[in-house]
Amino acid sequence: MAKTIKWGIAGLGNIARKFAGDLKGVAQAELIGVASTSRDRAKAFQKEFDGQKAYDKYEDLYRDPEIEVIYIASLNQNHKAMTMAALEAGKGVLCEKPLGLNTKEIKAMVALAKKQNCFLMEALWSRFNPAIQKAKQWIEEGYIGEPKFLYAEFSFYRLNIDSSHRLLDPKKGGGVLLDLGVYPLFLAYLILGRPKNIVAQSILGSTGVDVQTSMILQYENAQAVLYSGIANESDNHARVGGTEGEILLHGFWHNAQKVELKKIGATTQEDFPSEGNGYVPQIKEVNCCIAAGKKESELWSHQDALELGQMVEQVFEKIKEK
Ligand SMILES: NC(=O)c1ccc[n+]([C@@H]2O[C@H](COP(=O)([O-])OP(=O)(O)OC[C@H]3O[C@@H](n4cnc5c(N)ncnc54)[C@H](OP(=O)(O)O)[C@@H]3O)[C@@H](O)[C@H]2O)c1
Repeated sequence: MAKTIKWGIAGLGNIARKFAGDLKGVAQAELIGVASTSRDRAKAFQKEFDGQKAYDKYEDLYRDPEIEVIYIASLNQNHKAMTMAALEAGKGVLCEKPLGLNTKEIKAMVALAKKQNCFLMEALWSRFNPAIQKAKQWIEEGYIGEPKFLYAEFSFYRLNIDSSHRLLDPKKGGGVLLDLGVYPLFLAYLILGRPKNIVAQSILGSTGVDVQTSMILQYENAQAVLYSGIANESDNHARVGGTEGEILLHGFWHNAQKVELKKIGATTQEDFPSEGNGYVPQIKEVNCCIAAGKKESELWSHQDALELGQMVEQVFEKIKEK
């Protein structure tokens, strides 16, 4: 029987709730402890998701001897400090995306994970989405010939939110590139790899962070057109066009439940109904890695997180150019 992995969660907001709901449905995962800056929030969360212990100090969660891996679900600006503290305490870490605000932070986190010999992964959950895995497999097996064009976006209307919201507040690592743009960049990286060049432009909102960012990625023999924004509604699909066909991931593609292969005269479709909120495959991957004593995932490695961070940094450089 597979080993049960003992989890902790630090930072108990929206995404932690969705994640904990999925964790509950994974047989080989047990929620040992949760920690929040608010004792009441910790207590209520522990009760709702059948955790064993509630802490009002993150440090107490990191020090809990029963816990093997901690999911860091706080805001972007806290990812590095919280991950470092959990690693220092000898815990494995699954940290929300983006792993760091920049590559300097990511490198420091990876270096400490290696020094401490602890597991570390960026919670790039779409990497484990079965429909996206199928799309990648079809492309690698040549179903669409040579991939030439990739289109992906992640956008919805949210310009009406308060300026203190994490999406708009620069002190909270706000802006659509860090929050949403990492997903289309991830898909381009997964399918086409590192680009030779990136062109990007943004529209900045009243708080100074980007609220719309468009990117063109130039490869030796292919191009990708990517978009992230909170200024418009969208069907949020992604597609990859090749010399012999096209693959479609229907919206919201980053949690796709269906993948479609279109060739002249023939369409094939495979359905992958989401398990829970879509985080189950990621949780199972972390469980498998920890059970096997691995310190990183082969599917979303430290190098992958770093290279995605480098692409984000390149986009930021372009945005700043006027
Ligand atoms: N994987 C996904 O699908 C997905 C989706 C949305 C967001 N995210 C990522 O998940 C992270 C959290 O997003 P979220 O939507 O869950 O955020 P949220 O609900 O606004 O806040 C999450 C937690 O951040 C902590 N926090 C620290 N400083 C804070 C401050 N100044 N104001 C408010 N909260 C603060 C709080 O933890 P305490 O409980 O300890 O007080 C809060 O509960 C972000 O890094 C985001 O990029 C991922």
